[in-house]
Amino acid sequence: MTLLAIEDLAKTYDKVTALTGINLSVEAGEFVTLLGPSGSGKTTLLMSLAGFTTPSKGTIRLDGKDITHLDPEDRDFGFVFQGYALFPHLSVANNIAFSLKVRKWEKARIDARVAEMLSLVGLDNLAGRKPRELSGGQQQRVAIARALAFGPRILLLDEPLSALDRMLRETMQKELKRLHRETGVTFVYVTHDQEEAIAMSDRIAVFNHGRIVEIGPPRDLYKKPATHFVAGFLGENNFLSGHRADDDETMVEAFGTRFSAPLQPRERPGDVLTIWVRPEHIRLGPAPGDGIGFRATVVENSFVGAVERILLRTSTGEQMVATLRSEAHSEYKPGQVVECRIDPAAIGVLPSE
Ligand SMILES: Nc1ncnc2c1ncn2[C@@H]1O[C@H](COP(=O)(O)OP(=O)(O)OP(=O)(O)O)[C@@H](O)[C@H]1O
Ligand SMILES: [Mg+2]
Repeated sequence: MTLLAIEDLAKTYDKVTALTGINLSVEAGEFVTLLGPSGSGKTTLLMSLAGFTTPSKGTIRLDGKDITHLDPEDRDFGFVFQGYALFPHLSVANNIAFSLKVRKWEKARIDARVAEMLSLVGLDNLAGRKPRELSGGQQQRVAIARALAFGPRILLLDEPLSALDRMLRETMQKELKRLHRETGVTFVYVTHDQEEAIAMSDRIAVFNHGRIVEIGPPRDLYKKPATHFVAGFLGENNFLSGHRADDDETMVEAFGTRFSAPLQPRERPGDVLTIWVRPEHIRLGPAPGDGIGFRATVVENSFVGAVERILLRTSTGEQMVATLRSEAHSEYKPGQVVECRIDPAAIGVLPSE
């Protein structure tokens, strides 16, 4: 069931087009992430949903009802914005109670709800503290509890974890997922961190230059990106140049070998193509097996913890990175020529840009 529908939304400032042609439907209970580089329009869309920014064009519907020009307080959206600080002079409990008092809830109902929210975010013992007496992670929990307290239909979150260190960020990611499950509230989440987006989302909308480039579940976008931008933005990737073989319409020639690959009918013999392959899909060593075989020279071998990264140079002079699980201790040395294999299913072909 579609809860939120964004139709042909655009926002222009004097000279800047911040958003253009935005279409996005969000199902009730979904966790949708807006992912994209800095300046791609993520915050502008979130602010338009919250009602703090007026779109130049287009419609926002909640349950089919046009809310494009409704005041923020009439939308029943909760928000956790980066830099949207807690009230410093209010205790944790009063920060959470704030939106309930504004909505004129009765005292007993407010007390019960605050206790429920404190327990939901695991801060039962800290109700009386002031924000400055809390760690960054605890402050962020209060901000989330405050945003959820009045029971919003949708929670809007703009980079809520970006100020936290890596460990805490990962803990809070799990917390947010749990809150999403337990409350059933629809989440629209903004991040520029692709790993965070992959780990948390039901669907990701990838932004670039004010447009949604692709929308889909993380797995689909990672495995079958339709665009060069998404293939490069979501996870590490190698891009190599190739072309359609002159003598066989199903064959591609690239990195010193040839192989059959899914080609679009409009690609003609000799057409230049971009081939992509993820570092984890390049296998090294003489082990026999099927797949696309080719030779490359080791440029560099670096140990980075769980994996070893081998930088290779192909016979066509291009570089590609292969990652190997480092328990398979590798003896690859710079200058060494190695046999490489790629499962054809792991190869992507895009028209050259
Ligand atoms: N009030 C404003 N006036 C003029 N231009 C603005 C305004 N707000 C945003 N912009 C511009 O709109 C574009 C989109 O900005 P937005 O804040 O939505 O990006 P973002 O994707 O959230 O980036 P980040 O990841 O850095 O937060 C940028 O080019 C920005 O400079
Ligand atoms: Mg932003």
